Amino acid sequence: MDTIAIHRLVYVSKFNLGRVDSAPAALRDILSASRRNNAKDGVTGYLIFDGEFLQILEGAEATVSGTFARIEGDSRHRQTSVLEWKPSSTRLFPTWSMAAYLRSPAHEAVFARHGLGGKIDRGTLSADRVVSLAMELSLLGA
Ligand SMILES: Cc1cc2nc3c(=O)[nH]c(=O)nc-3n(C[C@H](O)[C@H](O)[C@H](O)COP(=O)(O)O)c2cc1C
Repeated sequence: MDTIAIHRLVYVSKFNLGRVDSAPAALRDILSASRRNNAKDGVTGYLIFDGEFLQILEGAEATVSGTFARIEGDSRHRQTSVLEWKPSSTRLFPTWSMAAYLRSPAHEAVFARHGLGGKIDRGTLSADRVVSLAMELSLLGA
């Protein structure tokens, strides 16, 4: 149970393929740094990858801000756009220092159900869609 107020940040960005030697290695590095730092900082969340990143970060306001400042400056992605930044009464992913999901055709129907079928369209993307998709994927154990 948290005794601190929680803030949630949801953003989208594009993978900077040209800036990494190997996508799987870059993703492994991102995830291991995320889990190490977030566990220490009390940050939890969910990361969806399909050429774009969709990430949810939750924790104390100042901590999430500091984490996101580091993330924003990371040259492994670009065109970062914040979809939501607001207080929340609960953590949605309390057990995950950072869950990660690599988009697979097996879950295309799940993406479509949350209005995120096909290529990610920033025009219709919303934090609610990202959050509801991530919650369903996490329940599926995906
Ligand atoms: C899409 C994306 C998501 C990231 N998510 C996190 C995160 O949740 N927490 C974190 O500490 N670093 C995250 N990073 C990595 C940071 O940009 C940065 O490399 C890292 O925090 C540096 O940590 P270190 O100094 O301990 O190596 C992410 C990077 C990218 C590209």
